[in-house]
Amino acid sequence: MRPLRWSFGNARHQRSNYQVIKNGVSIRRSKILGTGHYLPPIVRTNADLEKMVDTTDEWIVDRTGIRTRHIAPDGTGSSENIVTSDMATAAGKRALEAAGLKATDIDMIIVGTVTGDVPMPATAVFVQQKLGATHCASFDISAACAGFIFGLSIADKFIRAGAASRVLVIGVELLSRILDWGDRTTCILFGDGAGAVILGPTTDDSPNASAVLATSIHSDGALARSLIIPAGGSELPLTHERLDQQEHKVHMRGQDIFKVAVKNLVSASQEAMQTAGISPTEIDWVCPHQANLRIIDQVVSRLQVAPEKVLINIDRVGNTSSASVPILLDENIRSGKIKPGDTVLMCALGAGVAWGGALLRM
Ligand code: UT7
Repeated sequence: MRPLRWSFGNARHQRSNYQVIKNGVSIRRSKILGTGHYLPPIVRTNADLEKMVDTTDEWIVDRTGIRTRHIAPDGTGSSENIVTSDMATAAGKRALEAAGLKATDIDMIIVGTVTGDVPMPATAVFVQQKLGATHCASFDISAACAGFIFGLSIADKFIRAGAASRVLVIGVELLSRILDWGDRTTCILFGDGAGAVILGPTTDDSPNASAVLATSIHSDGALARSLIIPAGGSELPLTHERLDQQEHKVHMRGQDIFKVAVKNLVSASQEAMQTAGISPTEIDWVCPHQANLRIIDQVVSRLQVAPEKVLINIDRVGNTSSASVPILLDENIRSGKIKPGDTVLMCALGAGVAWGGALLRM
């Protein structure tokens, strides 16, 4: 049997462990075929929150950069109700339209969420059913705010391996239903929404070819209890007392997360750039998780990327957790800011803590 021959392309490719050519045939990579997002109709301002908890617009803007967030109407049991899979489906439909694909073309749906429709089964199966994507495997992943990056990384690996061809990756959260609206340290931060991308295969290995160039994902359980919903699982099953204590809602030690966020978002971004052989000066756009404007500023300054290359929507949408990066990406593709051929760096960190980075050529 002939031995496998591994060779590399041009100089840029030589720095990358993702551009391997075997027997003269390039191994396939994944690339973005289409994107979409959905934001629910209710807009809650900082002035609205001033009436609910002891806070001020000035504190929220100064400490986070957030001015408004979108909230899904909670008309439980009525036709007005919006659930997680509704938002995910709306974002998925827009991504399908952008890609020029039908739902039946999709062979895998990955949904990153910690606010699913029900504890069991996966929200992805409701999305599958609502889209009419009859030919695919559908599953959720739980990586909180990093859920979209984790999903993108998994989808990329399936496509590279030849095990999937069209993967719909969705980040979606309906956090307004799991927030304690009496806790000013969390309720001012989060918003609802969904973002989606469709990945498909490419064998174009030319230097500027559209492709997912690298992904990096990590987690560290040492800080698991710094951002947690304490009750409702096997550790603390729901009781009336725990419901009364709001233990089924989000609890966060913000300072713990802030410190680790800056450090890990920088390292995951650097890892993705190193893997792809791309330097900070070659980045056209940074598409960071929108958790806090101060975190974003510190990450970008440490990465030494020019501030004008950083995409921001936290002022309008707040922290939408796993939906944050794909909403921002789709908004800027649709506005024409992100153009074909641009190099986009993404990074996100959330509960777990789980974090990751991704580098894409559009
Ligand atoms: O999505 C991924 C996961 N989440 C994150 O990445 C969030 C990371 N953390 C943060 O973004 C920040 O830690 C927060 C925005 C959550 C908080 O900002 P901070 O500058 O770290 O404030 P702090 O928690 O140190 O609190 C400072 C003060 C405290 O008062 P005292 O003890 O100094 O009197 C808080 O009680 O601000 C008070 N405070 C507020 N005041 C008005 C906390 N929340 C509020 C509020 N309005 N909403």
